[in-house]
Amino acid sequence: MSRLRGRAAAAAGCLVVAALAAACGGGSASAPKAAAERGHDLILHEGCGTCHTIGGVERADGDLGPRLTDFRRKRKIAGRLPNNPNTVVRWLLNPQAVKPATLMPNLHLTPQQAREIAAYLNTQ
Ligand code: HEC
Repeated sequence: MSRLRGRAAAAAGCLVVAALAAACGGGSASAPKAAAERGHDLILHEGCGTCHTIGGVERADGDLGPRLTDFRRKRKIAGRLPNNPNTVVRWLLNPQAVKPATLMPNLHLTPQQAREIAAYLNTQ
């Protein structure tokens, strides 16, 4: 009898561990948010706000470049590309390849950084 009880306790222990693992592993829903949060920090540290006004980013009140508030409603990127996450990444990685005469500098972002910044802009 006591052996049986021991097994039951062990099985219950496994269930608790499994439930905890599931709770910790459920990151898929929050992954896009984490990317956007990293994008926010990158925008802050790359100094995008010296040229752009960007919603939700501290000290981002520049006016050399277009306002990036209400970003999702923007139809075009630099007047050339339709606005979607892929074209934003393309633009961020090499603005001159899209529009040779643009004043937006190439900030030498990695593709992952560009995707995270695009994720943030798409929350705006
Ligand atoms: C030195 C100033 C400057 C900096 C720094 C800068 N930009 Fe720009 N950006 C511009 C200018 C100017 C444009 C307008 C491009 C054009 O149409 O020629 C632009 C355009 C854009 C656009 C397209 C917006 C639209 O309405 O067409 C996005 C998106 C953008 N910048 C994001 C960023 C991000 C993100 C950063 C930081 C990683 C950044 N920019 C840093 C000057 C800057």
